[in-house]
Amino acid sequence: MRSTPKPRDHHHENFDRIERLDRKLANLGIKIRKDEDSWKVTGEVFDETTLFALYKLVNKKVISSMGGSISTGKEANVFFAGRISISGEETGAAAKIYRIRTGNFTAMSEYILGDPRFSNIRHTHKDIIFAWTKKEYSNLSRIQDAGISGPEPFAFDRNILIMEFLGENGIPYPQMRQHLPGIPEERYAESIGLIRDLYQKARLIHGDLSEYNILTGPGGLVLIDMAQAVTPEHPKAYSFLLRDIKNINRFFATKCETTDERELFRSIVGEEFFEI
Ligand SMILES: Nc1ncnc2c1ncn2[C@@H]1O[C@H](COP(=O)(O)OP(=O)(O)O)[C@@H](O)[C@H]1O
Ligand SMILES: [Mg+2]
Repeated sequence: MRSTPKPRDHHHENFDRIERLDRKLANLGIKIRKDEDSWKVTGEVFDETTLFALYKLVNKKVISSMGGSISTGKEANVFFAGRISISGEETGAAAKIYRIRTGNFTAMSEYILGDPRFSNIRHTHKDIIFAWTKKEYSNLSRIQDAGISGPEPFAFDRNILIMEFLGENGIPYPQMRQHLPGIPEERYAESIGLIRDLYQKARLIHGDLSEYNILTGPGGLVLIDMAQAVTPEHPKAYSFLLRDIKNINRFFATKCETTDERELFRSIVGEEFFEI
């Protein structure tokens, strides 16, 4: 008679595989699960798939170490990571890890499936998360190519994106909501300029632009968080663009004079706002 395996056995197998990956990573000098205090966050983020992706990135020498947490968001965690530069020095990087068990999966699917670049992917949960990560990588590459200020993307694997660390002495640049340097009018013009360049030079619409997703570096404002950015062909592209403009206007409304959102839309796109 065949006996059905107990669920406990399945858990055990999983656990063993995770332990093996942990050991492999530890052999490469990367300790993920040893810190009792951060067990909760590491347990939620570093599942088997994620450990495997990490293992691949370390093996490919994209990163050489993992550091502490920078941010815990709705869908992703951002960590410090070490990276050996081409010249052999250890530099910083940021590792953005999309949680496989994210809370915001439905929204992700909507953005992905409306984007012609990603419309033919399989639709399982993991596939969407992986496509989402790849999409952020592509969008960041695209803004680099267009000469727009954002973190340089280095590599991605499955649900992990490795990019340039935006900060100094291990401290990330503040978000614009926390720190607005200089004259508000100038930062307003710079923000609108970013939306315009993004649209006109990179053919992208950020889609989640606000004072949270703009960092303030010494060289000026820097765009981050680009996974949801879409091309103008997306059916909701213009609505997203108008919303981005509204968010920036709302933030600056109490700080300086702002231009009417539809007028800005017209000056960026070259025609009146309409829904496709
Ligand atoms: N490349 C980076 N360098 C430094 N800090 C970063 C970087 N990317 C993100 N962060 C920090 O992590 C936070 C969350 O990143 P973000 O990409 O906006 O993810 P989320 O989808 O969780 O909002 C940012 O507000 C910023 O403080
Ligand atoms: Mg964000």
